[in-house]
Amino acid sequence: MSTVEADPNKASKSAWSPGSWVERRVDQAIPYPDQEAVWKVVGRLAKLPPLVTSWEVEKLRAQLAQAAEGRRFILQGGDCAEMLSECSSEVITNKLKILLQMSLVLTDGLKKPIVRIGRIAGQYAKPRSSPMETQGGVTLPSYYGDLINGYDFTPESRTPNPERLLLAYHHAAMTLNFIRALVDGGFADLHHPEYWDLNFLDKAGLTPELRAHYMRRVDALANAMEVMEIIAGRPIDQVTSVEFFVSHEGLSLPYESALTRTVPRRSGYYNLGSHFSWIGERTRSLDGAHVEYFRGIRNPVGIKLGPKTTGEDLRKLVEQIDPAKEPGRLVLIGRFGAGKVREVLPSLINAVRDTGRKPVWICDPMHGNTISTAGGKKTRRVDTILDELIHHIDVHEQEGSILGGVHFELTAENVTECVGGASGVREDDLDTCYQTLCDPRLNYEQAMEMAFAIARRMEAI
Ligand code: PEP
Ligand code: CO
Repeated sequence: MSTVEADPNKASKSAWSPGSWVERRVDQAIPYPDQEAVWKVVGRLAKLPPLVTSWEVEKLRAQLAQAAEGRRFILQGGDCAEMLSECSSEVITNKLKILLQMSLVLTDGLKKPIVRIGRIAGQYAKPRSSPMETQGGVTLPSYYGDLINGYDFTPESRTPNPERLLLAYHHAAMTLNFIRALVDGGFADLHHPEYWDLNFLDKAGLTPELRAHYMRRVDALANAMEVMEIIAGRPIDQVTSVEFFVSHEGLSLPYESALTRTVPRRSGYYNLGSHFSWIGERTRSLDGAHVEYFRGIRNPVGIKLGPKTTGEDLRKLVEQIDPAKEPGRLVLIGRFGAGKVREVLPSLINAVRDTGRKPVWICDPMHGNTISTAGGKKTRRVDTILDELIHHIDVHEQEGSILGGVHFELTAENVTECVGGASGVREDDLDTCYQTLCDPRLNYEQAMEMAFAIARRMEAI
């Protein structure tokens, strides 16, 4: 079996610190006009309080370890790119509601606890396929997300501005504060799923059949809880109060390292800007700065895996990032494209298994299935997304492995960004309500259809 010592890559042998990544090549590096100003902002950020706690991070790790064993299932979802301008009570509440509704459908179908992780409270940075964008003969830096620059196509807006790191931190803090208040106040309590109804549900939401199906699930769950409480002779708070974790892509290493801290009575460094972050498909090179940063933190680490990933690449990556083979440490998020799953996933599952590790395998059926319409709009087909999901479930079954969760780009709003689904959004409809600044998201109804489809398919397992 391979060990870290046997790995020819030197990175794992050198000393790690929250800033050791600066010695490495930074993929997707941001062209800040004044790098000194960035370090000044990082210094200010480093003095501000953390957004999450080490014990929350440890709790998530323990739950991820259970998901790797098939005892829990992960539902991770949210916007492709969160916008600072959408940090409002209604938008945040709706994001929570859709994840809670989906998780209720999954709990019922899979008969296991669902771990809810939002792409929220920090999902402000985006990798880009091209660093520059040209419109009408004018070329400016691409939009890298609200953490970095603005979406408006003007030189002022598109110039990366380090003050945005602070602005984003404040918005993440406000978002998390509101989520915590809602969860603590009982909003997410399973006794009250009626709180999670979206107010447009009857007007523009689910088809009557899905709606009836959902309501039957809610009633069944309420009855089951009543019976359990009668047997227990007391309210079963531990079972019924719902937890909620937050996550984002760890793209901006100045931001991530500014929020990396030690805490009393625990060893090591925690990224206290989020419970969970992942390394994107474009930034996971073995000798790059992102892998260097992530190998040193105590948080669980996600790695996005595209169709070109080989078993050998992955073996080296997991040895770098999880040298001690710790339960709950690795989350491998496959996003291959529906047509590639059967070809690529089996060898990856076996390569990791051969190293003696048990990661959480998650299916992201969105990022390998993005297409452009004739009119140049980015979209995704619900059918293809579903195909990728089903192929992941099949392959894990065949390989005697476990699919531990799913990862979606979705919104509770009634947008028209992905094509298909029961309400039949067509390519011609995309302009009706196309709001994303980055990748196309499932709308409310499409997202609920996914939850029902997963529950139906996995009920049998
Ligand atoms: C994303 O999750 O928004 C993303 C950019 O993913 P990937 O790195 O898989 O392309
Ligand atoms: Co995306």
